[in-house]
Amino acid sequence: CGIVGYIGDREAAPLLLRGLERLEYRGYDSAGIAVLDGRVSVCKRMGRVQNLREMLSSPECGALAGATLGIGHTRWATHGDPSDRNAHPHVSRDGSIALIHNGIIENYSTLKKELSSKGYRFSSDTDSEVLVHLMESIRASRPELALEAVVRKALHHVEGAYGLCVISDREPDRMVVARKGSPLVIGIGESEFFVASDAAPIVEHTRKVVYLSDGEMAVLTRDSYVVKTIGNVEQEKLVTELDFDLEEIEKGGFEHFMLKEIFEQPGVMRDVMRGRVRLEENRVRLGGIEDYLDTIRGAERIVICACGTSWHAGLIGEYLIEEFARIPVEVDYASEFRYRNPIIGRGDVVIVISQSGETADTLAALRLAMQKGATVIGICNVVGSTIARETHCGMYTHAGPEIGVASTKAFTAQVIVLYLLALALSEGRTLPDHEIGLYLRELAAVPEKVERILAQNDVVMEIAQAYHQSRNCLYLGRGFNFPVALEGALKLKEISYIHAEGYPAAEMKHGPIALIDEDMPVVFIATRDTTYTKILSNIEEVRSRKGHVIVIASDGDEDIRRLADHVIHIPSAAGPVTPLLNVIPLQMLSYHIATLRGCNVDRPRNLAKSVTVE
Ligand code: G6P
Repeated sequence: CGIVGYIGDREAAPLLLRGLERLEYRGYDSAGIAVLDGRVSVCKRMGRVQNLREMLSSPECGALAGATLGIGHTRWATHGDPSDRNAHPHVSRDGSIALIHNGIIENYSTLKKELSSKGYRFSSDTDSEVLVHLMESIRASRPELALEAVVRKALHHVEGAYGLCVISDREPDRMVVARKGSPLVIGIGESEFFVASDAAPIVEHTRKVVYLSDGEMAVLTRDSYVVKTIGNVEQEKLVTELDFDLEEIEKGGFEHFMLKEIFEQPGVMRDVMRGRVRLEENRVRLGGIEDYLDTIRGAERIVICACGTSWHAGLIGEYLIEEFARIPVEVDYASEFRYRNPIIGRGDVVIVISQSGETADTLAALRLAMQKGATVIGICNVVGSTIARETHCGMYTHAGPEIGVASTKAFTAQVIVLYLLALALSEGRTLPDHEIGLYLRELAAVPEKVERILAQNDVVMEIAQAYHQSRNCLYLGRGFNFPVALEGALKLKEISYIHAEGYPAAEMKHGPIALIDEDMPVVFIATRDTTYTKILSNIEEVRSRKGHVIVIASDGDEDIRRLADHVIHIPSAAGPVTPLLNVIPLQMLSYHIATLRGCNVDRPRNLAKSVTVE
């Protein structure tokens, strides 16, 4: 979900709407706004923010005009279906309090029972609504309490996670916000303040922000803000300068954010390497983890935890670290790691990878690893995100804001960081300097090669034309490119809703081969490396069962046309960098197939960019 709040002297509703549009990638099941202008007025509607925008210009939302204080929410449904009634803001029975909530109230059914027995009626199926009734009931028993104290008291009864904004007509110039487990940022303007789940809606108004930590709340008026703990202890907060531009989060002439982000990759890759790749010295410099390098080199084992696409980057990391640095690596889904009482201790290093830096399961894995005494390293894209702040040390991916829900540039940036980490861990140990130099030069050559792949957009488009009506698709690769097969399949299913599976090519004969017939396209990653000849046999196996074969092959490999229905040629490169090249046509293929099918590529159904629920 996405949260935005405004208090100042400008009209709130248009600012909130604009902010919600910027946050829409966090969820788009419904959207709503509440403003305070003597009294609380609310407008909310199922579906995209655009629906709310249309509703706001209708007479039924007339009361919102002119107010200069308000809150807005865009929802990703957890409890209760996507509908008007489940949309936020939620309002108390007496109409005096309105709130928006991101996160999950775990004890909501107990609270709901208690409140129902006191006569409170629920007009939604959400866990969030209990909060507003709870606040009203607290105020009913203690009318003298200020809103801040009411919120604080309510939060003492709550188990679970929240990012919360509350307004009340009893205190017409005030907004109370609180955070536990769901991010909140305060933007500091001239006699105005913004609150949001992340900086995207804030950056066009001010660059000065304060990140709330877990267990903190803030009280905002038009000319001041105070941050306290939920236990009521005032906190000194650091004001941070945002360092990204608005145009970085706008589409820049591309039809979709995803396409823009795919095409940005050569530039992003150069940014990730900047200052870190020292070609003249055959060295890697990773400032963020310098003090911990020896600890990591001495680790008995490295465990990588992540979710989704970041988990795929982690798998490539495993292959790279084991290959270069010869340290054993395990890769775990963060959600599995945290719930299986993992064997982890002081000698272990845990790497958590997260684009957003807010994924709830990854954050919980981080905290568990810390508790058990491991050294924890973060690889995050969002600067100042919770994961980035809570790890011992880390490396930013510097990919810029990623808006498309399906991750592309953040993934390749993660892989580059892991590649650099693997080389840094090899220095003086497992690889001689000249070999490190060789691998660095291979990496440095990647952005230009990616540009050459992007130039083949038409070839990929043709393949998309041929297969966009398929119902299934198989992706096969080996070695470093097995995780790329998984990622290719995930990209396709996320945005085109075609069922797709990724497999290690040799495993095909142990199951997926049963699916192959004339309706099944199979994408092979068959660039030339040590497993090339083996994969040729796998292609033959598919052909003899009449499957359609699409091959990602190395430049100059013309022979392969004999075996394939379609070929995408990729510039030749050393095995360890090939994932960075081979994933590009797979991203493009999913994008084109999804647009041909008329899908909303930037906001695929049921998904959210940043999953802050468990
Ligand atoms: C969601 C997104 C995925 C992403 C995953 C992990 O499911 O839709 O694209 O890979 O979360 O997100 P993170 O921000 O932790 O990398």
